[in-house]
Amino acid sequence: MVDVFDLVIFGGTGDLSRKKLLPALYAGYVAGRISSKSRIFLTSRSAQDVAMEEWLREVFAATTPACGIDAISIREFANMVEVVELGLTEGGEQWETLQAKLSETKSTSVVHFLAIPPSLFTSTCSLLAEYGLNGSNARVVLEKPLGNNLETAQAINADVGKFFGEDQTFRIDHYLGKEAVQNLLALRFSNIMFEELWSARTIDHIQITIAEDLGVQGRAGFYEGTGAMRDMVQNHLLQLLCLVAMEPPARLDADSIRDEKLKVLKSLRPLEGDLIDRNVVRAQYGAGAMHGEAVKGYADDLELEEPSNTETFVAIKAHIENWRWAGVPFYLRTGKRLPERFAEIVIQFKEVPHSPHPDWKGGINPNRFIIRLQPEDHLALRMMVKNHGAKSETLREVEMNLDVMGNSGTRLGPYLRLILDAVKGDQSLFVHRDEVEHAWRWVDRIINHWQEKGQAPKSYQAGTWGPYEAHDLMVRDRREWFHETVGK
Ligand code: BG6
Repeated sequence: MVDVFDLVIFGGTGDLSRKKLLPALYAGYVAGRISSKSRIFLTSRSAQDVAMEEWLREVFAATTPACGIDAISIREFANMVEVVELGLTEGGEQWETLQAKLSETKSTSVVHFLAIPPSLFTSTCSLLAEYGLNGSNARVVLEKPLGNNLETAQAINADVGKFFGEDQTFRIDHYLGKEAVQNLLALRFSNIMFEELWSARTIDHIQITIAEDLGVQGRAGFYEGTGAMRDMVQNHLLQLLCLVAMEPPARLDADSIRDEKLKVLKSLRPLEGDLIDRNVVRAQYGAGAMHGEAVKGYADDLELEEPSNTETFVAIKAHIENWRWAGVPFYLRTGKRLPERFAEIVIQFKEVPHSPHPDWKGGINPNRFIIRLQPEDHLALRMMVKNHGAKSETLREVEMNLDVMGNSGTRLGPYLRLILDAVKGDQSLFVHRDEVEHAWRWVDRIINHWQEKGQAPKSYQAGTWGPYEAHDLMVRDRREWFHETVGK
């Protein structure tokens, strides 16, 4: 259990808080990770007229199976939560009330979680400072997207930096809180056999996919004008790429990890001009069918009157220019309304240089190491073995599954893990401002190129694996997306 804390969720009755933060905190309470003396304040523009327990039941109905809610724990949890009416652009009585509540604290840390649009980050941090709520025990958690491009991200970082030190600033990327991502670090840096093989000498290429079956319903205000590049590539996909590609840090502490990730971002080959046209695919879903049911296209989902240029799918072939990765392509891909929801990293090794089975015509598949992040955590190694009982030259591919989950107790969801890390002041799974800015530098070039060319995204049918061009990105390199072929 972590020490008693106070958590203020700005935008506390909003989407992120209802869908992710409150369910995660409740799960943490039920699992005994959070003390009942901790307090959770939800800021809202208007007061709440429903009793907290009743409101929480409604909130959890959408996210937590009914069997996961029990009458006693929800009552106890409701006692820890309070809605505070608060405007985020001007100080006044409401801020004095919050200040008074927080001054009664018995906690060792106060975490301000900004689950609000980035346009409100500066005024909120400035008010927190004006009311003395940025002391050394205070931390601020910034939810993505951090800006809309390099310039706005730098402005936010500079503004927040006036009121909170870098050691108090926690830029969240919830993908870093996923269990399998922790495992990737453990696996890479605690096993000599992986590290020895982890380079251009033995690896042919790496694929990182985050596929979603959902569309963008209900997120009109946010998604239109943001698109998959800003929503998923700038943060989640590039962070996963950093963890796969980084050099072993001297220690697994925040500074060491973040320094190594930054070096990867700095080594990404900049994509410009024709290189973008050849190596980046951008597309938007049209009407189609999901799990046997007809679904609308993007523009109809958002009830747009004009056609939109916002992409819901991106595939990229990227390179990291350093000794370890010279010549190894990293294929990144993300999209909405794809046939299923999964996220995985596939490390594909090189083919054997020579086959000692001249009579075997079935081919020898290259080894593949698969790190599945969701829907379930899963590590698997695909390798060739002799076909049982058959002649020695008959081969087949098998999958060796590593039981990484074992029975090692309660698993923390990503948001709970990261909130508890923020309470403890541990920044290892949070993103440094330099990383955010370097990631923007790389994606900005691509977005600016698209804007200059005024190019509309390609189209793909909902329920398919994206446009033909994404398939072609691989095929022309004589490769294929693992999940569409072998990994089903
Ligand atoms: C969020 C994006 O950061 O991540 C969403 O804004 C996306 O568009 C979500 O759906 C995916 O997260 P997860 O954990 O469900 O894969």
